[in-house]
Amino acid sequence: MYGMVNQAVKGFVEDNHGPEMWQKIHTKAGAPESFAVMSPYDDAITYNLVGAASELLQVPAEKILKGFGEYWVDKVATVHYESIMTRSGQNFMDFVKNLDHMHQRIRITFPNYNPPSFRVKVVSASELQVDYYSERAGLLPFVEGLFIALGRYFQEGIKIEYADTEKLGLPCKRLLIEHAPLT
Ligand code: HEM
Repeated sequence: MYGMVNQAVKGFVEDNHGPEMWQKIHTKAGAPESFAVMSPYDDAITYNLVGAASELLQVPAEKILKGFGEYWVDKVATVHYESIMTRSGQNFMDFVKNLDHMHQRIRITFPNYNPPSFRVKVVSASELQVDYYSERAGLLPFVEGLFIALGRYFQEGIKIEYADTEKLGLPCKRLLIEHAPLT
């Protein structure tokens, strides 16, 4: 993944656990201390960082990924990519419907990247069916964290359920997301 993702993992660790913990984690993962934001890196580096963080912090990898998803929206996307965020939707539903378009538009900036795809069906005014396609395994908790923080950003409460995609024979993960304005 592009260095910006690994650099955000570094920010996530340092903000929550301090720079010494980042030194331990990147060393254990055999990963560089910092990353060139606009250069692609092997995905294994990102997975190794999450694995090392999980061991050293004694927190399950899923929980780290979920926290990192929230951090990505709270501290990276809405801070450093605010204009992209603003142009991609004014409320939770419009934004989620636009996710593919948004990732496609920034392909100019990240020519070699391999973004996920989110195919969205509006079930009702308060429910979305989101099919998450990725060539990477194990990132569903990251996606969950992203959606939770997106809900907060748009001041909507979010409830996520998962369909049994294996049983349905689908090549994606299917999320059923209820969303409602926070009063
Ligand atoms: C405006 C801010 C955003 C930027 C600049 C951005 C850019 C990127 C980049 C560069 C990657 C790495 C892909 C690669 O290097 O191959 C990525 C991955 C990803 N992005 Fe975004 N993204 C943004 C917002 C979001 C949001 C709001 C979501 C919410 C669902 C999202 C979902 C994901 C996921 C799940 C991945 C992991 C890759 C995978 O699942 O295969 N992104 N994004």
